[in-house]
Amino acid sequence: MSDQPRASHDTGAPENLVRFMMSGWATPPGTPASSVEGAERFAARRDALSRALPGETLIVPTGHEKIRANDTIYRFRPGTDFYYLTGNLEPDNVLVLVPAADAHSATLYCRPHPGKTDATFFTDRMKGELWVGPRLGLTQTAQRYGIATKPLDALAGDVAGAVAGGRYRVLRGVDPELDAALPPQPARDAELATVLSEMRLIKDEFEVCELRNAIEATHRAFDDVVRALPQAETERTVEGVFNLRARVDGNDTGYSTIAASGPNACTLHWTRNDRSIGENELLLLDAGVEAETLYTADITRTLPVSGSFTPEQRAVYELVLAAQDAAFAQCAPGKDFLDPNRAAMEVLAHGLERLGIISSAQDALRDENQFYKRYSLHNVSHMLGLDVHDCAAARAEAYKLGELRPGMVLTVEPGLYFQLDDLTVPARYRGIGVRVEDDVLITETGVDVLSAAIPRGVEEVEAWVRSARIPA
Ligand code: GLY
Ligand code: MN
Ligand code: MN
Repeated sequence: MSDQPRASHDTGAPENLVRFMMSGWATPPGTPASSVEGAERFAARRDALSRALPGETLIVPTGHEKIRANDTIYRFRPGTDFYYLTGNLEPDNVLVLVPAADAHSATLYCRPHPGKTDATFFTDRMKGELWVGPRLGLTQTAQRYGIATKPLDALAGDVAGAVAGGRYRVLRGVDPELDAALPPQPARDAELATVLSEMRLIKDEFEVCELRNAIEATHRAFDDVVRALPQAETERTVEGVFNLRARVDGNDTGYSTIAASGPNACTLHWTRNDRSIGENELLLLDAGVEAETLYTADITRTLPVSGSFTPEQRAVYELVLAAQDAAFAQCAPGKDFLDPNRAAMEVLAHGLERLGIISSAQDALRDENQFYKRYSLHNVSHMLGLDVHDCAAARAEAYKLGELRPGMVLTVEPGLYFQLDDLTVPARYRGIGVRVEDDVLITETGVDVLSAAIPRGVEEVEAWVRSARIPA
């Protein structure tokens, strides 16, 4: 019998079957793999990393498939920094940069592809070709990504010298096996993550193009949801329609779709999406298509399900829009990253005073009070790119306490959330949650709102929703 791991419901394979399975297959054609688009771009990023951290072995894994239960797994999504440096989409692989002369030499350690020369092709339900499809293996990976390859098994031996001398850094938190095998050096390892996050702060032309593609695909998915809204009985339908279009037009969603109707809109990351949608309620949809190249959009629209805002919904919506306009006006090179947030909160605080929700905007805005945050809950911007909350390991001085620079892509997403049980809020506003979220590019002279084509104004949004209600 084969000694490959089996699931509880498998009966295994007798040796005769293994021998039978190992014979009678056509010779694989050995077709060279095509080069990944922009292979030179990935190489240039590796060179930039090499210059930033010279003379040390740098180890960047992509991680493994995550187990859902027992032997079922989630679809694999590469480690962001690994992908940024290689373009490679397969699990398990590890990029190693070894100091050589005045730069580094790069090697991609990956799983060999044994084809049908090894019984695992049908006995290994986690990696076998007949279970999960073929993988590229060493030769094709080298051809496709323009990088030297070695088998994963060689990794430990190849880095042993650097590890013994302490001249290495590992991107932690991605590959638990690698983390366990290589002694941590917390400050040095963290610096590797920081350098990579800060490299990713400025997007190049290709990245901006991919973000535009993801945003256009997200627009199409929002259009589909609006068309489906008259028949959508629950939030599940909204999620399903959005996610279908994401899969069809892009690669996936960049995060779990938030389809929050009525008071659920006041729960910021509502992803249970299991509530019935009421006729005169708002639907807050926060969702983004992730492109094949893994760049993701992050868009929110809050829609009146009936096609008309009630006066209370409209008052809150207009206030959020005004806050967003004030934030857009602060999106320019040389501004503080936090300037759009400050401008939006100023508008929200004064609006909350006008609505009779806080007694004094001036008092609420004091640093030691910040009472408006009871209703606005979050800041208005984060970086966007390969990750929805991109560049998370950047230093504060380069990101949240830094300046906006041309090539940065960020969200602008003010919101107001009046909880159903909040006694400080007049009853007529309770249960209303509104967020409007757009994605912007900082340019040399100002800002380009990449998602400007998606309806946003009160009348525009009402017309958008009503258009789906008019019989064809
Ligand atoms: N969708 C998560 C966020 O807006 O940050
Ligand atoms: Mn966001
Ligand atoms: Mn969002």
